[in-house]
Amino acid sequence: MSLHYLIDTYGCQMNEYDSALIASMLEKNGCEPTEDPNEADLFFFNTCSVREKAEESAKARISKMKFYKKRRPWIKFIVTGCMAEHLGPRLIDQVDCIDYVIGPDKYNQIPEILFKHPVIVKKHNVQERVLTGFDIEENYIGEYAKIAHPFSSYVTIQRGCNFRCSYCIVPFVRGREKYRAADDVIYEVEKASERGISEICLLGQTVNAYRNHGTDFADLLVKISEIPGIRRIRFMSPHPRFYTEKLIDVLQSVPEICPHAHIPLQSGSDAILDKMKRRYKVDDFMRILEKFRGKNPDYGLTTDIIAGFVGESDEDFEQTLAAVKEAQFDAAFMFAYSPREGTVSAQETETLSEEQKQERLARLVELQNSITLKRNKLMIGKTEEILVERPSSKDPNEWVGKTGSFKKVVFASKTAKPGDYVKCHINEVRGWTLRGTPVTE
Ligand code: SAH
Ligand code: SF4
Ligand code: F3S
Repeated sequence: MSLHYLIDTYGCQMNEYDSALIASMLEKNGCEPTEDPNEADLFFFNTCSVREKAEESAKARISKMKFYKKRRPWIKFIVTGCMAEHLGPRLIDQVDCIDYVIGPDKYNQIPEILFKHPVIVKKHNVQERVLTGFDIEENYIGEYAKIAHPFSSYVTIQRGCNFRCSYCIVPFVRGREKYRAADDVIYEVEKASERGISEICLLGQTVNAYRNHGTDFADLLVKISEIPGIRRIRFMSPHPRFYTEKLIDVLQSVPEICPHAHIPLQSGSDAILDKMKRRYKVDDFMRILEKFRGKNPDYGLTTDIIAGFVGESDEDFEQTLAAVKEAQFDAAFMFAYSPREGTVSAQETETLSEEQKQERLARLVELQNSITLKRNKLMIGKTEEILVERPSSKDPNEWVGKTGSFKKVVFASKTAKPGDYVKCHINEVRGWTLRGTPVTE
């Protein structure tokens, strides 16, 4: 009988991709997927460290799952991802039901450790159960993520990060930047396309810094756009520093590339951006937005912002609110600052209490919500192509999908199915959601 595996994924899309990579390695070794914890023999927890809360919730979840070990003591708990790299052997002390801790550069050793030479889990051999550390050569060449989604797929093109933003743990848990060979990326996209994937999202922490033997990010986008069957190309997460003229030109001229850019602002104060070591000023940032919106006012723009960064004064925060008003983002991911072990900013004493940080976050969210609503209302009367994702949870005759600019649209249809591209006339905004009617029916 084959072993069943279950993967619980936390954090960003890079972890989603890695979970699919691990799934494919396991299936090559005869394992089968399951969603049922009563049936799973191998439990993977692919974790995130970006904020304290992310680690806390993963640890709580793992402890809760211990219940299944009581009934089936042979099952294994394997922690992978950023928290595995961050805490290493400390994790085994902190959560007593963990068998293995495997960092993001060591996934190739999973089959070895689980199937070929499994370490008998004993209290004293902690070192043998913890595989962490970086390998600058490890790009998982020749390993491809399992395609579980019917029409959309992530493809990692860059691992690690060479920036050292003063608040960020990612460089400490993912190591230095490395790029996957363009040929390997293209091979993966071609295979995905043959399996019916029409939307590709390229991933990296500073994805637009990609370069590999003379191929830069813009060149790679063009090559991917030429692969038959690929209709939508997205990417996460670009860094404002690498929006070159050449890249912006390609983004605006290649029809397969979606008119949506996620550009993380982090703060609207130059003094804070400097302290964060972001390497751009608010003006530089606004000029990039202007290049997109100047040509296409409907261009989708989303961002990430941190409220209550260490040393953020009332005035700095007011400048963030002003920048958000000026930028008119379609949506934003907003977070309260969380000090992270090992980072430069964690060495500084915070002047804001947790309540003050949460209060700033709430004001920011409220402002952005009003802008999101305003931007959504501007879509009324327009016709948009929607990639259909799933039936609506409220009404099975209604479908949910996204515009190229990354806006959610709900519409009624008797013939639509997931993966279809449907032209819709946008009629109204209900709550925050756009509603439309198919124009072809
Ligand atoms: N590479 C991306 C960001 C990856 S982390 C970039 O450079 O933009 C995703 C987001 O988490 C960040 O954009 C930031 O807004 C947030 N974040 C990272 N570290 C954080 C911290 N210590 N506290 C609060 N938010 C944080
Ligand atoms: Fe973190 Fe900065 Fe790297 Fe983004 S660019 S992953 S925020 S260090
Ligand atoms: Fe979290 Fe690691 Fe991604 S820290 S945000 S899962 S790279």
